[in-house]
Amino acid sequence: MAIHFNSTYLKGFLADHEVGALSGAVKAAHESLVNHSGLGSDFLGWIELPTNYDKEEFSRIQAAAEKIQKQADILIEIGIGGSYLGARAAIELLKSPLYNNLKKDTPDIYFAGNSVSPSYLQELLSICEGKDLAVNVISKSGTTTEPALAFRVFKALLEKKYGAEGAKERIYCTTDKARGTLKELADREGYATFVVPDDVGGRYSVLTAVGLLPIAAAGCDIQAIMNGAKAAQEAYNCSDLSKNECYQYAATRFALSQKGKAVEIMASFDPCFAMMAEWYKQLFGESEGKDNKGIYPSSVIFSTDLHSLGQFIQDGSRIMFETFIDIKKPKQDFFIEEDAENLDGLNFLSNQEMSKVNRKVMEATILAHTEGGVPAVVLEVPEINEYEFGYMVYFFEKACAISGYLLGVNPFDQPGVESYKKNMFALLGKPGYEDRRADLEARLSK
Ligand code: PA5
Repeated sequence: MAIHFNSTYLKGFLADHEVGALSGAVKAAHESLVNHSGLGSDFLGWIELPTNYDKEEFSRIQAAAEKIQKQADILIEIGIGGSYLGARAAIELLKSPLYNNLKKDTPDIYFAGNSVSPSYLQELLSICEGKDLAVNVISKSGTTTEPALAFRVFKALLEKKYGAEGAKERIYCTTDKARGTLKELADREGYATFVVPDDVGGRYSVLTAVGLLPIAAAGCDIQAIMNGAKAAQEAYNCSDLSKNECYQYAATRFALSQKGKAVEIMASFDPCFAMMAEWYKQLFGESEGKDNKGIYPSSVIFSTDLHSLGQFIQDGSRIMFETFIDIKKPKQDFFIEEDAENLDGLNFLSNQEMSKVNRKVMEATILAHTEGGVPAVVLEVPEINEYEFGYMVYFFEKACAISGYLLGVNPFDQPGVESYKKNMFALLGKPGYEDRRADLEARLSK
């Protein structure tokens, strides 16, 4: 089973030959990836990951996940950006956005270190009261301020609750194999450590320990995820645009952007996809948005957002295209019952599956929005399970890399992220940032 790229609703917006004209550029982008000759070629480890991942570490991840399931009521996942979005997306997609509220024999999972909100942290600490805890701190660089601050808090909490020795049994670090403050600390304290490979960037790291440990702790089958990713790796290792639906998606995005469509809206009809869309937004936003280029990635969950952003999409400024995620088979379904009184007038829906109603909402929306001038790409996903998740991750990663090369940017760096960090350090008075601080404070006081 695979993702199917459906271009039916691009008619009138984009002609087949306009995408076909990109076949040479796509082939060149493919060859740059395969030959490691393009921009950012030190960060291409994700391409072969589904086949050459570290099998010994994979077994350690599975063992650690089982240990966490036995020892903890709550697992705290500390990380920001690529160090948490993939895991959170997987858990919400494969389990539920309501995962923590479900009856289950796996720990609740909360995410921390992706903001410095004191209120959120305090609320999370109060949820942890009286519960057994484990902490997985993830930082490739090992130096990112937000997760480091959160880890400080939870390390102290665990040491207070379990003693220094007991805490060691409950702290799991995922970081660089040799460098960074977190690695140093983990080695000194004797924490279990897992590796973010050198050649895999944060936002491409969900199929490493970064994503796999929390996903496994939530009770998902990570072997099936890798199997799905491997199938996608094989399916999309072909430079021929006419045969590669992943590349067709990348080329279509690019062709639409050339026609002034500067915004992509990823639209799905199930809240379980909300965090998957957040993961996609980071992947494409951080990969493409540089050198004054890039398609702005955004997302909506329908029907929810049909009653908020729907108006804008229908007839606001025509700057966007939509990418609809069409999940063919929902995880669960049920029949709508007949109501004797029929006060709401909805008996015409009786004895139909709710999924059929959702499908009609999708069809109605695609037709309305295309009529309103918004081109629609449809990505058909057969069903939601671990295999399809792995497949989808690889599909989007490969599409993003090709898309970045078509745009002429390095899809594997993120220089722009440093600007706020430098200002933050200066404003917080970090030694070495004195000149910048004076300048920033003068600007703030104007
Ligand atoms: O994709 C990326 O590289 C970033 O989003 C990082 O994942 C994010 O900045 C967190 O970095 P680190 O894992 O080094 O703490």
